[in-house]
Amino acid sequence: EKGGWSSFMAKEVSEEPEAVANTLRGRIRDGAVAITELDGLDDLFRGISRIVIIAAGTAAYAGMVGKYALEEWARVPVDVDLAHEFHYRNPVIGPDTLVISISQSGETMDTLMAVKYARERGAKTLSICNTQGATIPRESDAIVYTHAGPEVAVASTKAFVAQITALNLLALHIATVRGELSADQVAEQVAELKQIPEKIQHILDDEQPHIEQFAHWMADTRSVLFLGRHVGYPIALEGALKLKEISYIHAEGFAAGELKHGPIALIEPGQPVFVVVPSPRESPVLHSKVVSNIREIHARGARVIAVAEEGDAAVLPISDEVLRIPLTGAITQSLLAVVPLHIFAMGLATAKGLDVDQPRNLAKSVTVE
Ligand code: M6R
Repeated sequence: EKGGWSSFMAKEVSEEPEAVANTLRGRIRDGAVAITELDGLDDLFRGISRIVIIAAGTAAYAGMVGKYALEEWARVPVDVDLAHEFHYRNPVIGPDTLVISISQSGETMDTLMAVKYARERGAKTLSICNTQGATIPRESDAIVYTHAGPEVAVASTKAFVAQITALNLLALHIATVRGELSADQVAEQVAELKQIPEKIQHILDDEQPHIEQFAHWMADTRSVLFLGRHVGYPIALEGALKLKEISYIHAEGFAAGELKHGPIALIEPGQPVFVVVPSPRESPVLHSKVVSNIREIHARGARVIAVAEEGDAAVLPISDEVLRIPLTGAITQSLLAVVPLHIFAMGLATAKGLDVDQPRNLAKSVTVE
């Protein structure tokens, strides 16, 4: 039930802190990651030489964030594929491949077919799923459940942050098994993850009214662009998908580095562009690259809305709006940067008087290919 909330989506965004906390719960012990569902699978994790992540929609963007975590920490090469593209192109996979599927519902037909296909080809399969006993986890060799709780709104929000959390835990688990990170390095990342729920809560408490007000002013906008680098890239894609899905506004996400390879031609005075800005402390090189990207579009009259860390002053003279997020690690920043984008999409759709829970033409669970 919606409780006192105006929509399921509003309720589910408000539950993002507990979705992360519940996915972490019981899986951290003395600064180490302990995922009991994966007991007995150490040989599997030691034996693989690559990982392929398959999913659709928002779950695929969580997968893209997962690639950064898995490659950075576990040092296993990762490809992220849309399930429907993977399945129909004769992919090169075999017994040394771990195929990780990500699905909130566990019933998405495209993803299910891809998992079955991967199994037939001899790959190992691991399902990250939010629905106990769903079909995709039943078809997989291993399961890591996200514990976001039931998600009713068609637009996925709390399940997305739970999926990223599960992928972070899984990456730290595989890194530990393969001896790629020391106990101290794991403990450092675990400490960051543990603080995420309260940091998301901080954004909801301090920034949500301001972002909703801002979304209201933007209600007549016809097109919004989103830019990001590193984990900010899939977050930009997620921000764009959420906006098009529930507000029916044209929205596109780009890797910020691609700007000069084409998309900068779209920039004209007044064009709103959200930019996810990496942390100046955690990712100084990426930060300065993104700041130069902002300079380029600002100089061409774009209306820049920066999603930036508290205290990042470099964005101030070149942005029209700054949506603040707390400090965290380079990879966990994805879990914070997405929150203002979820709030914005919901605020804008609400300002347009649209039904945010049941957008036109869409179903919560896509059970046909
Ligand atoms: O249930 P799944 O996670 O497998 O669903 C995948 C996509 O259909 C889903 O994420 C979709 O893109 C959402 N409506 C996005 O908000």
